[in-house]
Amino acid sequence: MKTIVIFSGAGLSAESGIPTFRDSNGLWHNHKVEDVATQQGWRKNKQLVLDFYKARMENVVKAKPNDAHKAIAKLQDKFNVINITQNIDDLLERIKCKNVWHLHGDLLSRKCEYHLSILDDPKFTCDYLESHTEPVKLGDLCPKCNYQCRPNVVWFGEKVDMKNDSIKELIKITDIFITVGTSVQVYPAASFIKIFNYVSRKYIIDPNPVGSLIGFNKLKGTAVEKIPNLVDELLKQEI
Ligand code: OAD
Repeated sequence: MKTIVIFSGAGLSAESGIPTFRDSNGLWHNHKVEDVATQQGWRKNKQLVLDFYKARMENVVKAKPNDAHKAIAKLQDKFNVINITQNIDDLLERIKCKNVWHLHGDLLSRKCEYHLSILDDPKFTCDYLESHTEPVKLGDLCPKCNYQCRPNVVWFGEKVDMKNDSIKELIKITDIFITVGTSVQVYPAASFIKIFNYVSRKYIIDPNPVGSLIGFNKLKGTAVEKIPNLVDELLKQEI
């Protein structure tokens, strides 16, 4: 079975009604990144941060997978599909995608504010992390160490687990690489474009595809416009 890696960003879920970050109506035009997505913002005003993620969670709970998510799930009939996503929603899982790796965490779980995944710092040692359907509230304390809980999302300046060993193995077996709906501006996530650059069959799907990418088939359009057709083509061509 051939392997397809799909690297996605906020554009994949845009047509489900979840706003992107950097488009004209995006989240970073109405909120200051440093207030709601950094350690500094968290220390300054936890309630503001929790209100921001409560709104994100309410938005995601109401949203439904769109035709692009559905097509990606269909690809699994004939391919080994690995989703590497920067998105913190669960729309791929809801449509039964099996291999979904959330680089920036996910909204439907919470962790201790001193979780060991956050920073290389002796204070960050707790391993409490749990699925949860309710937004985190001020006063929801870590059952292990009694500090405040926070959403399980990665903020700017925090560590991203790039799973280097697994990636080394994955690149050996990847036949097709598809990137969809990302401005490719946030590192280290954006480095996947370089890491998978050796793959000969590559696609980028975006209404404004990044101009500098070489060797990609550029499909200019939205995820819902382009992914179902691409999936139909791939399912016809490959056995
Ligand atoms: P951005 O908001 O930076 O980029 C969204 C991309 O989606 C742009 O390239 C748009 O052109 C494209 N787009 C918009 N509508 C689309 C549609 N219907 N179909 C397909 N593409 C569409 O979002 P990301 O690249 O995901 O991180 O942002 C990366 C990270 O920056 C996020 O994970 C988040 C953010 O700050 C953290 O919060 C740590």
